[in-house]
Amino acid sequence: MTDRITVLGATGSIGRSTADVLSQHRDRFRVSALVAGQDAAGLARMARELGAEYAALADRSRHAELRAELSGSGIACGAGPSAVHEACSRDADLVVAAISGTAGLVPTRDALKPGRRVALANKESLVSAGQAFMAEAKRQGVPILAMDSEHNALTQALAAGCIEDVETLILTASGGPFRTWSSDRMAGATPAHTAKHPTYSMGAKINVDSASLMNKGLELIEAHHLFGVGPDRLGVVVHPQSIIHGLVQWRDGGVTAGMAVPDMRIPIAHCLGVERRLTIEVPRLDLAAIGSFTFEAPDEERFPCLRLAREALAAGGAMPAVLNGANEIAVQAFLDGRIGFLDIPAVVEETCRRRSGQGAAAPATIEEALALDGEARALAAELLQRREPSQLKIAAGASRSGERRPPRRV
Ligand SMILES: NC(=O)c1ccc[n+]([C@@H]2O[C@H](COP(=O)([O-])OP(=O)(O)OC[C@H]3O[C@@H](n4cnc5c(N)ncnc54)[C@H](OP(=O)(O)O)[C@@H]3O)[C@@H](O)[C@H]2O)c1
Repeated sequence: MTDRITVLGATGSIGRSTADVLSQHRDRFRVSALVAGQDAAGLARMARELGAEYAALADRSRHAELRAELSGSGIACGAGPSAVHEACSRDADLVVAAISGTAGLVPTRDALKPGRRVALANKESLVSAGQAFMAEAKRQGVPILAMDSEHNALTQALAAGCIEDVETLILTASGGPFRTWSSDRMAGATPAHTAKHPTYSMGAKINVDSASLMNKGLELIEAHHLFGVGPDRLGVVVHPQSIIHGLVQWRDGGVTAGMAVPDMRIPIAHCLGVERRLTIEVPRLDLAAIGSFTFEAPDEERFPCLRLAREALAAGGAMPAVLNGANEIAVQAFLDGRIGFLDIPAVVEETCRRRSGQGAAAPATIEEALALDGEARALAAELLQRREPSQLKIAAGASRSGERRPPRRV
């Protein structure tokens, strides 16, 4: 059996890990299409290596460069939104959705076609448009496979029982590079500091989200939509070794854990293998070498982004999309050196506060989600333009005292 695979976000961290797994099973997979944003050379190199049939860049202005890079290969290519749409529409059994941020919403929605599976890494599709996205997947009969390591671990652990018997789903967090930092120290953090993730090598945006724990908050919202579990039955625990990725607490007190070494190729292989596991070359778990596992409750005082995400999930309606849009603007401003690390939660909180009075139902379509996202971005950008982030009320609890306050359990 040969499966035809399309990878959206092929040149990114998840895309490259997917390419590694595909290249270990060339007899099993054929690459239908690869999509990236701007990196013509990286996309062309991967397309040649994997023998892809089609390569598309979102950035129309790079078309000539991509064509030149692929010349003589026989690989068809295009650039711009119609080329990305063409890539999403081509025949495929499985689409890996790994574009970063809300830029992934439309291509991931376009990938929902009968007769295929979608392996979802782009959590923003569920955070901004969870109801619309899951409803469309159901309408098209497309199974959504969780590629995020925590949700993939939960999928595997949930196979031990029925979803009705779940008391709590617990996501683990490594705690990120600032787990032991005081708020004072975090106030001076730079993008380079966020890139030093203790266990994963990832893209720039998710690095910042992991450092602020917004990533874990986005994952709570993702889990809510993927597994249909209410906010009161979702928890987070910090586990710095990142070996346990997700835990299912059953109603009889039993707990099933999903474990693996922290290597994204493992959940990727699980999604690609579907019915039968793939043999892949990754480090094996050596429990004796690790010695011990440790756990701690997340500290929402030092990491207010996690609290903001939980509040957005509890509020529902438009708030998760607003949170996500504001966060993308704030993270980009931090990466550009325009604001400090602790200004990220301040911008997100103030945007959510200003938008919350207006109410709004959860977006019923991707277009509605994008409209809300645009509104939140404009509001956050306006706050940034005032260029007085320190005058934004720094998110409550983001203590600058430098003292570590007692952590709260989520
Ligand atoms: N990295 C991880 O370990 C990890 C784990 C779980 C979930 N995720 C999720 O997976 C997604 C990707 O993360 P990542 O770390 O792989 O990000 P990344 O390294 O930044 O890669 C992003 C990919 O998206 C492409 N892209 C950006 N804008 C695009 C656009 N407008 N149209 C088409 N393609 C576009 C990029 O292309 P260019 O290279 O050309 O810019 C690149 O291929 C995110 O949603 C993240 O939250 C990541």
